[in-house]
Amino acid sequence: NIHSRIIGTGSALPERVVTNEQLSRELAERGLETSDEWIVGRTGIRQRHIASPETSSSMLATQAAREALSAAGVSAESVDLIIVATSTPDYVFPSAACLVQKSLGISGGAAFDVQAVCSGFVYGLATADAMIRTGMAKRALVIGAEVFSRILDWNDRGTCVLFGDGAGAVLLSADSRPGILASKLHADGRYENILRTAGNVSGGGITGHPFLTMDGPAVFKLAVSVLDSVARETVAAAGLTLDDVDWLIPHQANLRILQATGRKLGLPAERVIVTVDRHANTSAASIPLALDVAVRDGRIKAGDRVLMEGVGGGFTWGAVFVQM
Ligand code: ACO
Repeated sequence: NIHSRIIGTGSALPERVVTNEQLSRELAERGLETSDEWIVGRTGIRQRHIASPETSSSMLATQAAREALSAAGVSAESVDLIIVATSTPDYVFPSAACLVQKSLGISGGAAFDVQAVCSGFVYGLATADAMIRTGMAKRALVIGAEVFSRILDWNDRGTCVLFGDGAGAVLLSADSRPGILASKLHADGRYENILRTAGNVSGGGITGHPFLTMDGPAVFKLAVSVLDSVARETVAAAGLTLDDVDWLIPHQANLRILQATGRKLGLPAERVIVTVDRHANTSAASIPLALDVAVRDGRIKAGDRVLMEGVGGGFTWGAVFVQM
C-alpha cells in the first residue's frame, strides 16, 4: 500500500507588519473608526503582514516551497506535483502553481491551483494525497498562498481588519507508512453569498465587485458548526477518536471560532495551534503557516497526530488528519 507523508514544512510572510494601532490610525485618516480593543476583543487579531505591491502569491508560495524542500533536505527536481491553493493568484492564468514550478527551476510534473478559499489548503492536501496513493505522483508540494490585502475594501472596517498576506507549504512524499490517515471535503454552494469576491476581469475591465464582502455573523455560525462535524467525521474515518488528536489546527479566521471549536470537541486550549493573533486570517495560507510555526517551535514532533481543518467561502469545508 502506498501512503503519503509530510516530510517538510515551510512558510513565508511579507516583511511589513501592520499592528492594530497602525491600522486604526490609517483607517482614521479615511474617516473610519476602529481600535486595537475592538479588533482584539472580536477576533484575537493583534497584527498582520501586508505584502508590498510588487509581491505576488506565487513569490510567497515559492519562498515557502523552498523552505519546505530545505527542511526535508531534498531537491526540487524530485517534485512531480505542485498544487497551490489560492483565491488571489497572480493572474487569471497561468496558475500560480505553474509560476512556482518555473521559479523552482523544474518542469514536466503536474501543476495546478485549487480554489476553495480558506478551505483551499485541505482541499489541496487531500487531492495530493489521493494522487500519491493512486500512483499518479510521488512527491508533491502543497502550498497555500494569498495576498488577500489586494481584494480588501479598505473603506470597509468590518472586513479589512480581519485579513493578512502570507504562504505556507508542505512537501508530501510517497511512503510505505501513513502519513495522511483520513481526509473529508465538503461544499454547499447555497451559501455562496455569505462570503465572496463577486468580480472578475472581462472585456478589458472589472466586472462585478472587486472586493471581499461578508455576512460576519452568518459565517461565524456556519464555521463553528461545520468545523465540529468535519473534525468528528475525519477522525472516525481514520478509525480513531478525538482522544487521539495531539494537535488541532483549524483555519485561523478568528480566535473566538478557534476557541469555540476546541471547546466543542473537548480539546484543551493548549492543544489548539493559534497564529491568528500574529498573522490574522491569511485564507488558504493560514493552516500551513500555523503548522510550520508549531513544527519549528518544537511543539509538533514526529509521530504526533495533527487534525487540520479548513472552512471558507463557497461555502467549503474539510479536514485532513495526519500523523507527522
Ligand atoms: N471596528 C469597530 N467597529 C466595527 C468594526 C471595526 N473594525 N467592524 C464592524 N464594527 C461595528 C459594526 O459596524 C457594528 O456596529 P453597529 O452595531 O453600530 O452597526 C458592530 O461593530 C457589530 O458588528 P457585527 O458585525 O455584528 O460584529 P460581530 O460581533 O458579529 O463581529 C466579526 C464581527 C468579527 C466579523 C464576526 O462576525 C466574526 O468573527 N465573524 C466570522 C467571520 C470571519 O471570521 N470571517 C473571516 C473570513 S471567513 C473565513 O475565513 C471562514
